[in-house]
Amino acid sequence: MSRLATAFFGAAVLYALAGMVLGMVMGASGDHTFRPLHAHINLLGWATLGLMGAFFGIAGARAPQKLGWTIFGMMNLGNLMLLSMLAILLQGKPPILPILIGGEALVVLSMGLFGASVLMSARRPAAAAADIEPLRRAA
Ligand code: HEM
Ligand code: HEM
Repeated sequence: MSRLATAFFGAAVLYALAGMVLGMVMGASGDHTFRPLHAHINLLGWATLGLMGAFFGIAGARAPQKLGWTIFGMMNLGNLMLLSMLAILLQGKPPILPILIGGEALVVLSMGLFGASVLMSARRPAAAAADIEPLRRAA
């Protein structure tokens, strides 16, 4: 599996662990204030990053690697910005709007770039990808 796919899955597992622990705390305490935070840590973190990682794992060298790493960085930064502001919002405090909106923009832009990577991978001939695979592994 490529390092890119491993990075996506590794990060996804961290979000899943955080989301699940928050879910367990909510269940145990009966306080569901953070339900949307729990939902989005799991869905933007575990589910979305996991799906992206699965794609980059399957596509292998056909997928644009640099763009993949850019998406990985943007998604994580966007998630952290968005989720931290959501945590503040759910406590009834005013969020820092530029961070909230910036986080949302990063996440949406990442998804657009992910769509572009899917198209680029589909257009790339398998033979060309096979040629660079040993080079990429060695890097
Ligand atoms: C140990 C694992 C988990 C625990 C203990 C847990 C616990 C909970 C609890 C207590 C709620 C609040 C229910 C309510 O207020 O009615 C909830 C809601 C939710 N959870 Fe989890 N959860 C877990 C894993 C997950 C995972 C892996 C996902 C997604 C991939 C997820 C997605 C959601 C969503 C979307 C909601 C909101 C549902 C709604 O709108 O009614 N949860 N969870
Ligand atoms: C930029 C990304 C996203 C933004 C800004 C966003 C925003 C929101 C908002 C404002 C709500 C209503 C929360 C409430 O009523 O308290 C919501 C709920 C929800 N969203 Fe998202 N969302 C995003 C991405 C996603 C993704 C990627 C998924 C699924 C893969 C998802 C699944 C859900 C679910 C299941 C709920 C109901 C959760 C609950 O009842 O607590 N969202 N979202």
